[in-house]
Amino acid sequence: MSEVKMNTKETQKDPNPILEVNDLYVSYGAVEVIHGISLHVNKGELVSICGVNGAGKSTILKSIAGVLKPKSGTIRFKQKDVTGRKPEQLHKIGMALVPEGREIFPTLTVGENLRIGAYGRYKPKTFAADLEDIFELFPILKERYDQAGGLLSGGEQQMLAIARGLISRPDLLMMDEPSLGLSPTRVDQIFELILALKGRGITILLVEQNAKRALEIADRAYLFSNGRVEYAGCPKDMESSIDIAAVYLGANKGGNGV
Ligand SMILES: Nc1ncnc2c1ncn2[C@@H]1O[C@H](COP(=O)(O)OP(=O)(O)OP(=O)(O)O)[C@@H](O)[C@H]1O
Ligand SMILES: [Mg+2]
Repeated sequence: MSEVKMNTKETQKDPNPILEVNDLYVSYGAVEVIHGISLHVNKGELVSICGVNGAGKSTILKSIAGVLKPKSGTIRFKQKDVTGRKPEQLHKIGMALVPEGREIFPTLTVGENLRIGAYGRYKPKTFAADLEDIFELFPILKERYDQAGGLLSGGEQQMLAIARGLISRPDLLMMDEPSLGLSPTRVDQIFELILALKGRGITILLVEQNAKRALEIADRAYLFSNGRVEYAGCPKDMESSIDIAAVYLGANKGGNGV
Protein backbone atom coordinates (compact mmCIF):
# COMPACT_ATOMS: atom_id res chain seq x y z
CA MET A 1 0.00 0.00 0.00
CA SER A 2 1.44 3.38 -0.87
CA GLU A 3 1.25 6.36 1.46
CA VAL A 4 -2.32 7.54 1.89
CA LYS A 5 -2.94 10.78 0.04
CA MET A 6 -6.13 12.27 1.28
CA ASN A 7 -5.07 15.82 0.88
CA THR A 8 -2.80 17.87 -1.31
CA LYS A 9 -0.53 18.89 1.57
CA GLU A 10 0.43 15.25 1.93
CA THR A 11 2.21 15.43 -1.40
CA GLN A 12 4.64 17.96 0.14
CA LYS A 13 7.38 15.41 0.44
CA ASP A 14 10.98 16.49 0.16
CA PRO A 15 13.01 14.51 -2.34
CA ASN A 16 15.16 13.40 0.61
CA PRO A 17 13.08 13.17 3.78
CA ILE A 18 14.98 12.41 6.99
CA LEU A 19 12.71 9.45 7.64
CA GLU A 20 10.79 7.38 5.14
CA VAL A 21 8.75 4.37 6.21
CA ASN A 22 7.38 2.35 3.34
CA ASP A 23 4.69 -0.32 3.54
CA LEU A 24 5.67 -1.55 6.99
CA TYR A 25 4.15 -4.69 8.51
CA VAL A 26 4.88 -5.54 12.16
CA SER A 27 3.74 -8.53 14.23
CA TYR A 28 3.91 -9.61 17.84
CA GLY A 29 4.37 -13.36 17.42
CA ALA A 30 1.63 -14.50 15.06
CA VAL A 31 -0.48 -11.38 15.54
CA GLU A 32 0.06 -8.68 12.95
CA VAL A 33 -0.67 -5.22 14.36
CA ILE A 34 0.80 -2.88 11.73
CA HIS A 35 -0.65 -3.54 8.30
CA GLY A 36 1.30 -1.70 5.63
CA ILE A 37 2.01 1.73 7.10
CA SER A 38 3.88 4.35 5.07
CA LEU A 39 4.90 7.74 6.40
CA HIS A 40 7.68 10.27 6.12
CA VAL A 41 9.22 13.15 8.06
CA ASN A 42 11.02 15.99 6.29
CA LYS A 43 13.99 17.76 7.86
CA GLY A 44 12.87 20.37 10.40
CA GLU A 45 9.26 19.18 10.50
CA LEU A 46 7.13 18.39 13.53
CA VAL A 47 4.92 15.48 12.58
CA SER A 48 2.26 14.13 14.95
CA ILE A 49 0.80 10.65 15.02
CA CYS A 50 -2.59 10.39 16.73
CA GLY A 51 -4.99 7.52 17.30
CA VAL A 52 -6.85 5.66 20.01
CA ASN A 53 -5.38 3.08 22.40
CA GLY A 54 -4.00 0.10 20.53
CA ALA A 55 -3.90 1.85 17.12
CA GLY A 56 -0.22 0.96 16.73
CA LYS A 57 1.46 4.27 17.59
CA SER A 58 4.06 2.91 20.01
CA THR A 59 4.65 -0.12 17.80
CA ILE A 60 5.57 2.04 14.81
CA LEU A 61 7.99 4.18 16.88
CA LYS A 62 9.61 1.07 18.35
CA SER A 63 9.93 -0.41 14.85
CA ILE A 64 11.52 2.77 13.50
CA ALA A 65 13.93 2.87 16.46
CA GLY A 66 14.94 -0.77 15.92
CA VAL A 67 13.39 -2.13 19.13
CA LEU A 68 11.00 -4.27 17.07
CA LYS A 69 11.91 -5.96 13.81
CA PRO A 70 9.36 -5.42 11.04
CA LYS A 71 8.04 -8.41 9.13
CA SER A 72 8.31 -6.55 5.85
CA GLY A 73 8.61 -3.07 4.42
CA THR A 74 11.48 -0.62 4.60
CA ILE A 75 12.72 2.16 6.87
CA ARG A 76 15.05 4.75 5.38
CA PHE A 77 16.84 7.20 7.66
CA LYS A 78 18.98 9.98 6.22
CA GLN A 79 18.78 8.33 2.79
CA LYS A 80 20.03 4.96 4.05
CA ASP A 81 18.05 1.76 4.29
CA VAL A 82 18.23 0.99 8.03
CA THR A 83 15.55 -1.72 8.16
CA GLY A 84 16.43 -4.34 10.78
CA ARG A 85 19.25 -2.33 12.39
CA LYS A 86 19.65 -2.44 16.16
CA PRO A 87 18.60 0.45 18.42
CA GLU A 88 22.19 1.28 19.42
CA GLN A 89 23.26 1.45 15.77
CA LEU A 90 20.38 3.79 14.98
CA HIS A 91 21.09 5.92 18.04
CA LYS A 92 24.68 6.27 16.91
CA ILE A 93 23.63 7.68 13.56
CA GLY A 94 21.26 10.22 15.08
CA MET A 95 17.92 8.66 15.99
CA ALA A 96 16.52 9.18 19.50
CA LEU A 97 13.37 7.70 21.03
CA VAL A 98 11.84 9.04 24.24
CA PRO A 99 9.73 5.98 25.10
CA GLU A 100 6.22 5.84 26.49
CA GLY A 101 6.41 5.73 30.29
CA ARG A 102 9.76 7.59 30.35
CA GLU A 103 11.91 4.58 31.27
CA ILE A 104 14.57 6.57 33.04
CA PHE A 105 16.96 4.70 35.35
CA PRO A 106 15.50 5.44 38.81
CA THR A 107 18.56 4.47 40.86
CA LEU A 108 21.02 6.38 38.70
CA THR A 109 21.51 10.11 39.17
CA VAL A 110 20.18 12.69 36.74
CA GLY A 111 23.74 13.20 35.51
CA GLU A 112 24.26 9.47 34.94
CA ASN A 113 20.96 9.24 33.08
CA LEU A 114 22.10 12.06 30.79
CA ARG A 115 25.47 10.44 30.21
CA ILE A 116 23.70 7.26 29.11
CA GLY A 117 21.70 9.36 26.65
CA ALA A 118 24.94 10.57 25.12
CA TYR A 119 26.34 7.02 24.94
CA GLY A 120 27.51 6.08 21.48
CA ARG A 121 27.54 9.72 20.41
CA TYR A 122 29.47 10.92 23.45
CA LYS A 123 32.08 13.51 22.57
CA PRO A 124 34.17 14.49 25.61
CA LYS A 125 35.04 17.81 23.98
CA THR A 126 31.44 18.93 23.56
CA PHE A 127 29.72 17.15 26.46
CA ALA A 128 30.10 20.07 28.88
CA ALA A 129 28.62 22.48 26.32
CA ASP A 130 25.85 19.98 25.51
CA LEU A 131 25.02 19.80 29.22
CA GLU A 132 24.85 23.60 29.49
CA ASP A 133 22.46 23.60 26.56
CA ILE A 134 20.28 21.03 28.31
CA PHE A 135 20.34 23.02 31.57
CA GLU A 136 19.19 26.10 29.69
CA LEU A 137 16.11 24.18 28.53
CA PHE A 138 15.63 22.30 31.80
CA PRO A 139 17.03 24.32 34.74
CA ILE A 140 15.56 21.80 37.19
CA LEU A 141 17.93 19.11 35.91
CA LYS A 142 20.91 21.24 36.89
CA GLU A 143 19.53 21.62 40.40
CA ARG A 144 18.92 17.88 40.66
CA TYR A 145 22.02 16.73 38.82
CA ASP A 146 23.30 14.45 41.62
CA GLN A 147 19.91 13.22 42.75
CA ALA A 148 18.53 9.78 41.84
CA GLY A 149 16.21 9.98 38.82
CA GLY A 150 13.52 8.03 40.69
CA LEU A 151 13.17 10.85 43.22
CA LEU A 152 12.06 13.37 40.58
CA SER A 153 8.38 14.16 40.12
CA GLY A 154 6.54 12.69 37.13
CA GLY A 155 6.91 15.90 35.11
CA GLU A 156 10.58 16.20 36.00
CA GLN A 157 11.18 12.58 35.01
CA GLN A 158 9.54 13.31 31.66
CA MET A 159 11.88 16.27 31.22
CA LEU A 160 14.84 14.04 32.07
CA ALA A 161 13.65 11.49 29.51
CA ILE A 162 13.41 14.19 26.82
CA ALA A 163 16.77 15.66 27.85
CA ARG A 164 18.32 12.21 27.62
CA GLY A 165 17.05 11.96 24.05
CA LEU A 166 18.24 15.46 23.18
CA ILE A 167 21.74 15.28 24.57
CA SER A 168 22.86 13.06 21.72
CA ARG A 169 21.93 15.95 19.36
CA PRO A 170 19.70 13.66 17.31
CA ASP A 171 18.72 14.30 13.71
CA LEU A 172 15.33 12.82 14.53
CA LEU A 173 13.72 13.01 17.97
CA MET A 174 10.79 10.64 18.48
CA MET A 175 8.58 11.09 21.54
CA ASP A 176 5.92 8.63 22.66
CA GLU A 177 3.16 10.35 24.65
CA PRO A 178 5.32 12.86 26.54
CA SER A 179 2.28 14.46 28.21
CA LEU A 180 0.83 11.21 29.53
CA GLY A 181 -0.16 11.27 33.19
CA LEU A 182 0.99 14.84 33.82
CA SER A 183 -0.96 17.64 35.47
CA PRO A 184 -2.45 20.31 33.15
CA THR A 185 0.34 22.78 34.03
CA ARG A 186 3.00 20.20 33.28
CA VAL A 187 1.24 19.30 30.02
CA ASP A 188 1.41 22.98 29.03
CA GLN A 189 5.12 23.01 29.85
CA ILE A 190 5.79 19.91 27.77
CA PHE A 191 3.96 21.33 24.73
CA GLU A 192 5.81 24.65 25.12
CA LEU A 193 9.05 22.71 25.26
CA ILE A 194 8.19 20.74 22.11
CA LEU A 195 7.52 24.03 20.33
CA ALA A 196 10.84 25.41 21.58
CA LEU A 197 12.62 22.34 20.22
CA LYS A 198 10.90 22.80 16.89
CA GLY A 199 12.04 26.46 16.99
CA ARG A 200 15.60 25.21 17.30
CA GLY A 201 15.15 23.31 14.06
CA ILE A 202 14.94 19.85 15.61
CA THR A 203 13.05 17.31 13.52
CA ILE A 204 10.36 15.69 15.65
CA LEU A 205 8.02 12.72 15.30
CA LEU A 206 5.50 13.01 18.12
CA VAL A 207 3.00 10.38 19.26
CA GLU A 208 0.18 11.84 21.32
CA GLN A 209 -3.27 10.83 22.42
CA ASN A 210 -3.86 14.46 23.28
CA ALA A 211 -4.90 14.95 19.67
CA LYS A 212 -6.07 18.54 19.97
CA ARG A 213 -2.75 19.79 21.34
CA ALA A 214 -0.68 17.57 19.07
CA LEU A 215 -2.52 18.86 15.99
CA GLU A 216 -2.17 22.49 17.07
CA ILE A 217 1.62 22.36 16.97
CA ALA A 218 2.19 19.91 14.09
CA ASP A 219 3.23 20.75 10.54
CA ARG A 220 1.64 17.51 9.36
CA ALA A 221 -0.19 14.68 11.04
CA TYR A 222 -1.11 11.04 10.65
CA LEU A 223 -4.15 9.45 12.17
CA PHE A 224 -3.70 5.75 12.89
CA SER A 225 -6.55 3.32 13.22
CA ASN A 226 -6.12 -0.41 13.76
CA GLY A 227 -2.57 -0.47 12.48
CA ARG A 228 -3.29 1.54 9.34
CA VAL A 229 -3.01 5.18 8.32
CA GLU A 230 -6.56 6.46 8.21
CA TYR A 231 -5.67 10.02 7.45
CA ALA A 232 -2.50 11.85 6.48
CA GLY A 233 -2.08 15.53 5.87
CA CYS A 234 -2.40 19.03 7.19
CA PRO A 235 -3.66 19.15 10.81
CA LYS A 236 -6.22 21.88 10.08
CA ASP A 237 -7.78 19.93 7.21
CA MET A 238 -7.70 16.83 9.37
CA GLU A 239 -9.67 18.52 12.13
CA SER A 240 -12.31 19.71 9.71
CA SER A 241 -12.63 16.59 7.58
CA ILE A 242 -12.76 13.77 10.09
CA ASP A 243 -14.73 13.04 13.21
CA ILE A 244 -12.01 14.07 15.60
CA ALA A 245 -14.25 13.13 18.51
CA ALA A 246 -13.52 9.53 17.65
CA VAL A 247 -9.86 10.25 18.34
CA TYR A 248 -10.61 12.14 21.51
CA LEU A 249 -12.59 9.25 22.88
CA GLY A 250 -9.36 7.36 23.33
CA ALA A 251 -7.68 10.26 25.05
CA ASN A 252 -8.39 9.29 28.59
CA LYS A 253 -5.38 7.30 29.67
CA GLY A 254 -3.92 9.88 31.97
CA GLY A 255 -7.06 11.88 32.52
CA ASN A 256 -5.49 14.75 30.60
CA GLY A 257 -6.47 13.80 27.09
CA VAL A 258 -8.34 16.82 25.87
N1 LIG B 1 4.28 -6.85 23.51
C1 LIG B 1 3.13 -7.05 22.88
N2 LIG B 1 2.69 -8.31 22.62
C2 LIG B 1 1.53 -8.53 21.95
N3 LIG B 1 0.72 -7.53 21.49
C3 LIG B 1 1.10 -6.29 21.73
C4 LIG B 1 2.31 -5.97 22.44
N4 LIG B 1 2.42 -4.63 22.51
C5 LIG B 1 1.34 -4.12 21.90
N5 LIG B 1 0.54 -5.12 21.43
C6 LIG B 1 -0.70 -4.94 20.68
O1 LIG B 1 -0.40 -4.24 19.48
C7 LIG B 1 -1.42 -3.30 19.18
C8 LIG B 1 -0.80 -1.92 19.06
O2 LIG B 1 -0.26 -1.54 20.31
P1 LIG B 1 0.52 -0.18 20.55
O3 LIG B 1 1.15 -0.26 21.88
O4 LIG B 1 1.40 0.09 19.38
O5 LIG B 1 -0.68 0.85 20.52
P2 LIG B 1 -0.70 2.40 20.84
O6 LIG B 1 -1.36 3.08 19.70
O7 LIG B 1 0.65 2.86 21.24
O8 LIG B 1 -1.69 2.45 22.08
P3 LIG B 1 -1.67 3.36 23.40
O9 LIG B 1 -2.32 4.65 23.01
O10 LIG B 1 -2.50 2.60 24.38
O11 LIG B 1 -0.25 3.56 23.87
C9 LIG B 1 -2.44 -3.42 20.31
O12 LIG B 1 -3.49 -4.23 19.85
C10 LIG B 1 -1.69 -4.09 21.43
O13 LIG B 1 -2.55 -4.85 22.22
MG1 LIG C 1 1.46 3.62 22.99
